[in-house]
Amino acid sequence: MHLRKDRGHVHPVPSDITPRAAYEGRRVWLRQAATTAGGVALSMWAGIAANAQSSRPGKLAALPGTRSAVAAAVTMEKPTSYQDITSYNNYYEFGTDKSDPARLAGSLKPRPWTVSIEGEVKRPGTMDLDALLKLAPMEERVYRLRCVEGWSMVIPWVGYSLAELIRRVEPTGNAKFVEFVTLADRGQMPGLRSSVLEWPYIEALRLDEALHPLTLLAFGLYGEVLPNQNGAPLRLVVPWKYGFKSGKSIVRIRFVEKQPRTSWELAAPSEYGFYSNVNPKVDHPRWSQATERRIGEDGLLARKRPTLMFNGYEAQVGALYAGMDLQRQF
Ligand code: MTE
Repeated sequence: MHLRKDRGHVHPVPSDITPRAAYEGRRVWLRQAATTAGGVALSMWAGIAANAQSSRPGKLAALPGTRSAVAAAVTMEKPTSYQDITSYNNYYEFGTDKSDPARLAGSLKPRPWTVSIEGEVKRPGTMDLDALLKLAPMEERVYRLRCVEGWSMVIPWVGYSLAELIRRVEPTGNAKFVEFVTLADRGQMPGLRSSVLEWPYIEALRLDEALHPLTLLAFGLYGEVLPNQNGAPLRLVVPWKYGFKSGKSIVRIRFVEKQPRTSWELAAPSEYGFYSNVNPKVDHPRWSQATERRIGEDGLLARKRPTLMFNGYEAQVGALYAGMDLQRQF
């Protein structure tokens, strides 16, 4: 991941943070205003405003999710545009440039797809994508994604808590960590020719982190199946950790006793720790993590936003790290 020289520390204005209830309430108000006033112009305007954040882009198969029961996934900021979410990506198996995955991931075949469940579980085996899609009800979760490089987005994912899957495979008492192995197929992924990382891309969580209700197994975004460049057909999303902990295109989930070595730890142990919780007080050795640039708010007058502890999910996940020295276990 590259060096960014990000400086400045400006607070967001309240209009940047639109709770979902507020914007949904506004839609209802707009619809009511449109019918009572009966004005054609007003109803057209209301229609545009009502669709602004929720409309499907209409590019891929529909995958609707119901409003999440997880409170932190409901009240969220304005989502980043579909265009930005799907064209500014890190997916090194398709190249290291931000535009490479959108350009080259067409060669990824997200079907047929299976995920192998291995290690310390009572019910190991292979699950195919259709079984995984039916395993639990799909929810919409609007999460902030903070990349370790200093940029962030707000993404309306579709999926369910990883805990739903974990409970069904019944980890044994020896399972302390969960390792996520992602696809490494030279025939489909031109970036594997580069030795920038050890392939396959491997990430891992402590079992209690993996079981946390905010940890999402995502199959879609913006009400449609995942575009290849975002990790089709299924990926992890751990919203309080830097984005690289959220492995794309998962093929194997392994329950283990010892803390696994992850791809980024192997590549640069002093820069990318196992935990990688978003923490504005722990700088990357080469740059500050105190602020972030929100994608879609670029330009000369773009304001930097302060980065929040645990990416703003401290109330939900802080207890997982009670008593730990977060400077040392970064
Ligand atoms: N997963 C795989 N398999 N390969 C990768 O290169 N990049 C990570 C993560 N998952 C990556 C990956 C990084 S650095 C980030 S910031 C997020 O994916 C980006 O996800 P997005 O492109 O959907 O925003």
